[in-house]
Amino acid sequence: MRFLAEYLMKAAYKTNGISNLLVCDMVKKDKASPNNAKSSIWGGRFSSGPSQLMKDINDSISFDQRLYRQDIAGSKAHASMLATCKIISDADCTAIHQGLDQIASEIEAGSFVFSEALEDIHMNVESRLAELIGEPALRLHTARSRNDQVATDFKLWVRDLLDTVDAALADMQAVLLDKAETHADLLMPGLTHLQTAQPITFGFHLMAYVEMLGRDRGRFADARSRLNESPLGAAALAGTSFPTDRHMTATALGFDRPAANAMDAVSDRDFALEFLAAAAICSVHLSRFAEELVIWSSDQFGFISLSDAFTTGSSIMPQKRNPDAAELVRAKPGRIIGSLNGLLIVLKGLPLAYGKDMQEDKEGVFDAADTLGVVLAATTGMIRDMTPHPDAMRAALKIGFPTATDLADYMVRQLGMPFREAHHSSGAIVAAAASKGLGLEDMSLEDLQEIEPQIKPDIVGLLSAASSAAARTSFGGTAPNEVRARIADARQRFAIG
Ligand code: ARG
Repeated sequence: MRFLAEYLMKAAYKTNGISNLLVCDMVKKDKASPNNAKSSIWGGRFSSGPSQLMKDINDSISFDQRLYRQDIAGSKAHASMLATCKIISDADCTAIHQGLDQIASEIEAGSFVFSEALEDIHMNVESRLAELIGEPALRLHTARSRNDQVATDFKLWVRDLLDTVDAALADMQAVLLDKAETHADLLMPGLTHLQTAQPITFGFHLMAYVEMLGRDRGRFADARSRLNESPLGAAALAGTSFPTDRHMTATALGFDRPAANAMDAVSDRDFALEFLAAAAICSVHLSRFAEELVIWSSDQFGFISLSDAFTTGSSIMPQKRNPDAAELVRAKPGRIIGSLNGLLIVLKGLPLAYGKDMQEDKEGVFDAADTLGVVLAATTGMIRDMTPHPDAMRAALKIGFPTATDLADYMVRQLGMPFREAHHSSGAIVAAAASKGLGLEDMSLEDLQEIEPQIKPDIVGLLSAASSAAARTSFGGTAPNEVRARIADARQRFAIG
């Protein structure tokens, strides 16, 4: 240890900045506490305790205390199983349950003292249990290891998270469906390349996100179904020689079945990766929506206003109303993708079974969960509160010739022209309209016929944005009646009232 301390000191002197202070401070702390106490839980073969630096790098209690509820539930299920299988007595099991319930109340009341010396949530709970009930507590860890314990706790935690995320996504879909219904007829330009493309309705646009969120829900549900196998009872990696019943603990904890291979059970973190991957995709969807909100609420577009609740002012420019919440939703995928990336890298090349590397699985998932939670809530709030501005949308439809495709379609349908020729001729009319400073629907029949003499009076009215949108009745198209039909269908498909 002294070698490491000297090495760190030298390194600290060589570099500048805040990290020097930090490193020096840590080394001092380490020197100051060379004779730490042995761990009461695993200290049997050790003659002295870990150094302070070892504790600093090793402890997880600062973050894994979030698993306390799952840890207690897992221990209760394990104790019941041990009693049913006659591995511990019923009296011990009752004492363990009572002690664990008391620990849960202490933690919830904020009176539980988490100890860094006890490394993690598992040892904090077990050690407090021993204080509370004495000897029976020491029997709880029979036929179990922290390896299957942490995998079980974390799976249970992620499973709850998946349920919460699903509910939040369903909430957002419900808000989008209501808005889409209200605005199924509201015309706006649909864009490709951020340039005017074709008229669509606001409701139609919002429905695109209902579908995206539906796929997100599918991915989370899929992850949940694969996650739901219990690691508990796999013990360290090889199973146990005690006559345990892993099916019993699996059922008690709401798992579909026990994981079939003990080594895989303690090494598997796919459930965390799958949550992060689905969360990364979902956050990317939300960031695309957030960017649209930023664009739509800009002074240049003015398609919507965001509410005061989700915008901020400027400390210098009194007129400002900045879409900060939307900008943050746009930015947050960075953290979630970072967590996914981080955990993939931790697991890559890691030999079976458990390695302490795997303790690095939690903080990224916790951060991604918190981030996704706030991003989902803020996005739902912004959608619920936003006000569309039909005039601005109508004005935007006057520029960029959004019905040029309708003109080409007319030539195909009414004049029997091949589409490529019609496309060419419609393009020539767009050029003529541009030089006259007119929109297509403002061109007179004579103007149109000057370029395409076959055009007949039945063209009148076909080039408005409203008829363009109304004509797009193909399945999933933007015609208001089609949008309403798809809204009704989506309410059924996604079970949203
Ligand atoms: N705190 C540890 C973790 O999160 C618990 C498992 C420890 N297992 C072990 N063999 N040291 O991974």
